Amino acid sequence: MFMKRDRQFASDNYSGICPEAWAAMAKANIGHEVNYGNDIWTQRATDAIREIFETDCEVFFVFNGTSANSLSLAALCQSYHSILCHELAHVETAECGAPEFFSNGSKLLLMQGADGKIDPAEIERAVNKRTDIHYPKPGALSLTQVTEAGTVYTPAEIKTLTGVAKKRRLRVQMDGARFANAIASLSIAPADITWRAGVDVLCFGGTKNGIGIGEAVVFFDRELARDFDYRCKQGGQLASKMRFLSAPWLGMLEGGAWLRHAQHANEMAKRLEMGLHKIPSVKISFPVQSNVVFAKIPKPAEEKLHTRGWKFNTGGVTPGDSRLMCSWDTTPGDVDAFVTDLQEIGA
Ligand SMILES: Cc1ncc(COP(=O)(O)O)c(C=O)c1O
Repeated sequence: MFMKRDRQFASDNYSGICPEAWAAMAKANIGHEVNYGNDIWTQRATDAIREIFETDCEVFFVFNGTSANSLSLAALCQSYHSILCHELAHVETAECGAPEFFSNGSKLLLMQGADGKIDPAEIERAVNKRTDIHYPKPGALSLTQVTEAGTVYTPAEIKTLTGVAKKRRLRVQMDGARFANAIASLSIAPADITWRAGVDVLCFGGTKNGIGIGEAVVFFDRELARDFDYRCKQGGQLASKMRFLSAPWLGMLEGGAWLRHAQHANEMAKRLEMGLHKIPSVKISFPVQSNVVFAKIPKPAEEKLHTRGWKFNTGGVTPGDSRLMCSWDTTPGDVDAFVTDLQEIGA
């Protein structure tokens, strides 16, 4: 019995644009404005980001997460450097070599750690593995917050990692495609898991939070942002009608929609986890701390769910796991319908 579903669990970017971002774009669409980021909307959105981070950071609006990660890492590294990241990191598994490409050859060195989190001892291992001239020199640490397993680093965990990194003179970049979900999960000030915890640059995700297109690259160490505008232009990331990338951020940040939506998506994931717990043959794979549930669903049941019109991905980040992602617009009804279907199927 195939049903067309209004919302899906396949990805948080299956969702549309949230009302606050949409309204801000509509407001920015009145009349003419200066181009290439020299407009009032970009100025105001930049100031709003400075306000939530409580610091005078440098901010750049780019089209997507791959470019935000790649260009920011390129700004931290020379071509002969290496970038240390978790083996599941998006920069390693899902960016088609863009970080290496934009940094002109910096090599990604992979590290391990449970639940998608880097084990601090792995940094030492990676740095000490080779120290000779024939191997790339460690240049940067890339952390993902929320991690690819949906878990959230605590401020203490981030400080430990950045502490080891700084001792080894590594710059620290954070892939924050789901940064809002991390803040909603931890209920702390954004500064406490970024610059106050030793992060030099954050790729602040907008798309998965409810914006249509775009991420913000936030440099806490302003010196590292030198010439980043040229890097963006050369990388095809300087929007001529920048106001349509930046105005939605204002809509999200000014009234707190970014946190409300992230909080809601996280709550939907918790609800889903609770529902799945009632089905003995389904096993939750990682602690549910953000807007995603990874679960092992028996293959026949998974196939029947697809037949009933549910879309979700299996075997992407970790083999055998289905990734069930909640969005700003996921409803309790969506979650309950999915769980009821799984119960009916008799997993
Ligand atoms: C952890 C992480 N980083 C970055 C991205 C952004 O990628 P994109 O280039 O598709 O916007 C994603 C998207 O899935 C992600 O999950």
